[in-house]
Amino acid sequence: DDTRAGVKGLVDDGVAKIPRIFIREPDETDKNSTSNHNTHFAIPVIDLEGVNSNSSRHSEIVERVGLASKTWGFFQVVNHGIPLDVLQEMIEGVRNFNEQPKEVKSEYYTRDSTKKVVYNSNFDLFQAPSANWRDTIFCSMAPEPPNPEDLPQTCRDILIEFSEHVRKLGLRLFELLSEALGLKPNHLEKLGCTEGLSILCHYYPYCPEPELTLGVSKHSDSSFLTVLLQDHIGGLQVLHQNQWLNVPPVSGALVINIGDLLQFESNDIFKSIEHRVIANNKGPRISIACFITTHLRGNARLYGPIKELLSEENPPIYREITVKEYTTHYNEKGLDGNSALLKFK
Ligand code: SIN
Ligand code: FE2
Repeated sequence: DDTRAGVKGLVDDGVAKIPRIFIREPDETDKNSTSNHNTHFAIPVIDLEGVNSNSSRHSEIVERVGLASKTWGFFQVVNHGIPLDVLQEMIEGVRNFNEQPKEVKSEYYTRDSTKKVVYNSNFDLFQAPSANWRDTIFCSMAPEPPNPEDLPQTCRDILIEFSEHVRKLGLRLFELLSEALGLKPNHLEKLGCTEGLSILCHYYPYCPEPELTLGVSKHSDSSFLTVLLQDHIGGLQVLHQNQWLNVPPVSGALVINIGDLLQFESNDIFKSIEHRVIANNKGPRISIACFITTHLRGNARLYGPIKELLSEENPPIYREITVKEYTTHYNEKGLDGNSALLKFK
């Protein structure tokens, strides 16, 4: 079974032409719609220095986070409290995993998504119209972490350390987001939005024909919130007013984006924005996407747009659902370019 070596396995075998399943319709890869004008600084970079300082600085941060979440659905943060060497080591750990012999990697290969550690490419291979040029290790780190022995040995310790840091940063971000919605700082945490953490370590191999495919096709995230660490290569693009804008790598920064479930909870005040990653021939690109979400398995709790945000002029846009119902639909649908939220209007 060739797929066990991932997309990287194809590259290692020296393919000069990408297999047909990766080839997109031209409108999907259209680079003309990418505007590079003035966009480098467009997506806000927010300095978290001075957060929780009980000062005007704190309110200023809340305001910037709120504005970014409403208009862009994306922002970057610096001075976020995660040491830079932890970020660097995390990226190197993912590189080492993917660049070890395929016999070692393929021990982690599975398409059983109920496992806590899953290595494969294209979880939606059988639903999506074409495949993405990337490989992923998925690790479900919270509420119950996997047995450490089940985590890939090349990045085990750093994954555990990194995930502790992301949990703390996540709590802080949810306080800011709650405040930006005019709620008490612990409102979103009390709803359970921060219970779960899945870490998706992505490896986008060098691609011999990058203009014909994508690293990942257009989608919005199924999480409440995503904390993304990207390396220096670039390629992440966000759809803003019908244009694909680059999210440029900023050294030491983390990219934060609103997921579908927070758009849902906020009754569309915050936006879960579509994004994609273009394929590249500069080298492998590594990113680590941390999905902050609720406790998925068997969670019967009903979620609906937050009552405090509703009024006669602002009635609920969505019906009540369980997070399980939502994620099941999201995964079954695959990354087909449409929002999974539409089903629950
Ligand atoms: C994703 O949104 O699936 C990954 C984003 C990235 O690799 O930058
Ligand atoms: Fe994403």
